[in-house]
Formats: sequence, structure tokens, C-alpha cells
Amino acid sequence: MIRPILFYPDKRLRDPGKEVEEFDAELHQLIEDMAETMYAAPGVGLAAPQLGISKRLFIVDVASDEDEPSDLRVFINPEIIATEGEMTFNEGCLSFPGVREDIDRAERVTVKALDQDGQPFELEADGLLGIVIQHENDHLNGELMIDHLSVLRRRMLHRAMSKRAAADAAQ
Ligand code: NI
Repeated sequence: MIRPILFYPDKRLRDPGKEVEEFDAELHQLIEDMAETMYAAPGVGLAAPQLGISKRLFIVDVASDEDEPSDLRVFINPEIIATEGEMTFNEGCLSFPGVREDIDRAERVTVKALDQDGQPFELEADGLLGIVIQHENDHLNGELMIDHLSVLRRRMLHRAMSKRAAADAAQ
């Protein structure tokens, strides 16, 4: 089931997610819904708080916007345990439709997380996968791409998104 994605400045995007404790059918249904929602958008990553669900859970599929077989990865209660280097990437976010911004990130990350069955794994990632992991991990802390921008750029984007939300609400 495709679920509605929250748009900035919806305050629920600022809620830090809670640790996932139950790896049950309900969680698996949520992951399935998240994947369906992400592919339909389309996007390369989606975090549970973007659906108004306060859980430390995100999914990533960086192959989904290319002509490659899908490569869905699930990260539960993740923790970035190491970062290396710096890079700038032109990012988008499903909670900021139509917006692209240059964001500074680490070039490579090591992330520790649980899979959908609660099994721990560790992954080292760079390139687009590394970027998306950092972006989605931010969502679990209530942090958004706008927080990485200069004060001026942040103000402009906040104004544009607020205007858009007001127009949507008036419809
Ligand atoms: Ni995002």
C-alpha cells in the first residue's frame, strides 16, 4: 500500500524515531509499504519518519532510478560508526518535492544496523549509496537537508516550501 509522504515543514519530520524492538509481521508490512511508496515516488531512499512513523528505519535502493535490477536494502536502528573524506552531492528529498541542493557529506561511511529479521550487519559504502545512507540516517534524527544549507539558502527554501504547503492546504 502506497502511503502519503509528509512534506517540509510538517513538524512530524522533526521527531526523532524510536528504536525498533519488534521484528514482526507488522514491521514487515511497513517495510513493504515503504518500498512501494519509494518506488512509486520514485526515489532512491525513504525513512519511516517521512511517513509520520516514528521508527528508526529506512530503506535504500540506489539502482531503482537506473536500468538495473533493484537492490533494496533495509536499515533498522542504524548507526554510522565511521566516516572518511568529504564530498559534495546534488541531493533531493521526497519531503522537498522538486528541490535539489548541493550538500556536503562524508565520502565514505561505515554503518552498523539490523536487517528486517533483526540480524546485525555492517556495511561500508561510498558514492551514491554512501550519500543516501547519510541522508536517510539524518531523517531518523529529525534532521533534514535544509539544515545543511547556508542561512540565506535555508531561509529561501523555508519560505518557498511554506508557501507551497499553504497553497496545498487551501485546495
Ligand atoms: Ni529525505
